Amino acid sequence: MRYKGIIFDLDGVLCSTDEYHYLAWKALAERLGIPFDREKNRRLRGISRQESLNILLEGSGISCTEERKKALAEEKNAMYRQMLARMSPADLSRRVKTTLEELRKRGLKLAVGSSSKNTAFILERVGLGSFFDAVADGSCIRHAKPDPEVFLMAADRLGLAPRECLVVEDAPAGVQAAAAGGFDCAAIGDAGELPGAAGYLKELPDLLQYLE
Ligand code: BG6
Ligand code: MG
Repeated sequence: MRYKGIIFDLDGVLCSTDEYHYLAWKALAERLGIPFDREKNRRLRGISRQESLNILLEGSGISCTEERKKALAEEKNAMYRQMLARMSPADLSRRVKTTLEELRKRGLKLAVGSSSKNTAFILERVGLGSFFDAVADGSCIRHAKPDPEVFLMAADRLGLAPRECLVVEDAPAGVQAAAAGGFDCAAIGDAGELPGAAGYLKELPDLLQYLE
């Protein structure tokens, strides 16, 4: 087998929490009277909470102290966490679950590499709290994607070298992070949107065939 481990991004790859990110940023933008749409939201995929806020505030004319920015990011996170708290194992797609189980049966080591500081909470909500062999996330890194730190940490925790792992990503920042770390990357999305990936999957179960 070409790879010994698979490192998954979380939001938008394993579960649809990217929609909750959008709704929470949208609610904050509305409260601040800033225009925000799905197009702008696309730019926030994969990048850190603070960096996302900077993009949200771009062109708004609102200038903030670092302290206020921190409060605004916390406000968004509180709304986001309320949505996450309502998640349950029913929010993990059956097809994602069976794909993960099949990969494990094939003897692959499985990890999560996410910029999110809510990773442990989300995994626990959807019933994957103790499923993965390793988890590296926003709470244990200094540099978020497109820096490769989170993937390098996940690979290290699996005891594997980057060339032995495949990263699965849905965001340009994540594809860049994988490349910067020396990982092959299978992108969920189209080639035009995610240049630089080694392969493109329509949806996660396509990974099974991709690896054959
Ligand atoms: C990434 C998301 O997985 O996590 C980004 O794609 C998000 O949109 C980032 O900003 C940080 O997430 P959190 O949960 O720490 O705010
Ligand atoms: Mg993602």
